[in-house]
Amino acid sequence: MANLLRWMRRTSGSPGTTAPISEDVQPPAEYPDVSAAISAITTKEYLEMSARFFGAGTHRDLRNVKLASIYLRDDEFFSRCLEVLQQVESEKIQKLINDQAAKRVGGSFAEFGIFQGAWIERLFHMTESAGLSDRHIYGFDSFKGLSKPHETFDVAFWKEGMYAASRADVEKNLKVAERPRIKLIEGFFDESLERDDAKTVGKIAFARIDCDIYEPAKRCLEFLSSRLEHGAILVFDDWTHDYSVGEGRAFAEWVVTVPHLRFKFIFLGPWDHLHLRVLHRDQDDIF
Ligand SMILES: C[S@@+](CC[C@H](N)C(=O)[O-])C[C@H]1O[C@@H](n2cnc3c(N)ncnc32)[C@H](O)[C@@H]1O
Repeated sequence: MANLLRWMRRTSGSPGTTAPISEDVQPPAEYPDVSAAISAITTKEYLEMSARFFGAGTHRDLRNVKLASIYLRDDEFFSRCLEVLQQVESEKIQKLINDQAAKRVGGSFAEFGIFQGAWIERLFHMTESAGLSDRHIYGFDSFKGLSKPHETFDVAFWKEGMYAASRADVEKNLKVAERPRIKLIEGFFDESLERDDAKTVGKIAFARIDCDIYEPAKRCLEFLSSRLEHGAILVFDDWTHDYSVGEGRAFAEWVVTVPHLRFKFIFLGPWDHLHLRVLHRDQDDIF
């Protein structure tokens, strides 16, 4: 979220704390040692880790387009900039989904952390436009806001209960009654992802992680381990550009547990939306 970016710019340093990594998984040989990734402090170290994880660096210093410093907030050109950037990002994602449809990448669409449903709404229209109106779109959320952030592995910007939106309001926003392919799965992830309605979710073509904080992000990634299709798109809405905290940490710890998958950088949106291609190592690269 843009608020997080503003908060991060005002603060300096990173926690850099490491946690023990399970020893029974064998990460692919090209991956860096995960403890090293989590402790990467300098930009050079961070870029090197990213290149090894998904083939490209996502430069910390370019992580935000400095909209606020170009136009004042009450200047109409400020909101026009936001609209244009949003439009360009949406067109790029539409193209990615069209390409998936052309290459017959199967599976559902899913977002983990949906708030009032803005991205689910976009995915609904994008899938319609790509001729994928037979695909389920899953929205996973507590409808009670964020769970408790981790004391060390999340930055202090995040607070328990942030971004709460009631299920009734979200159902209304998304017209769920008229759009049965939108499926809402309610609950905090540590409970909801264990339930039968979640366990029956099959292959996933497109997954957005937008629950903001480390522990839920990691839980969602674990849920996706065996579900991500060859050619899937995996999006981190709040890429931290730092493997010691938040979604960055969740990814660095998870990626070594999925040696059957590999990842390719697609693009980084202006709000730090990191888009990665997911490929199965035992299949030919179709992208
Ligand atoms: C930033 S908002 C998502 C914004 C949304 N993607 C959009 O399109 O506007 C973060 C969401 O994550 C959800 N969330 C955070 N932690 C969660 C958890 N542990 N279990 C379930 N939902 C969680 C919150 O309820 C909130 O709706």
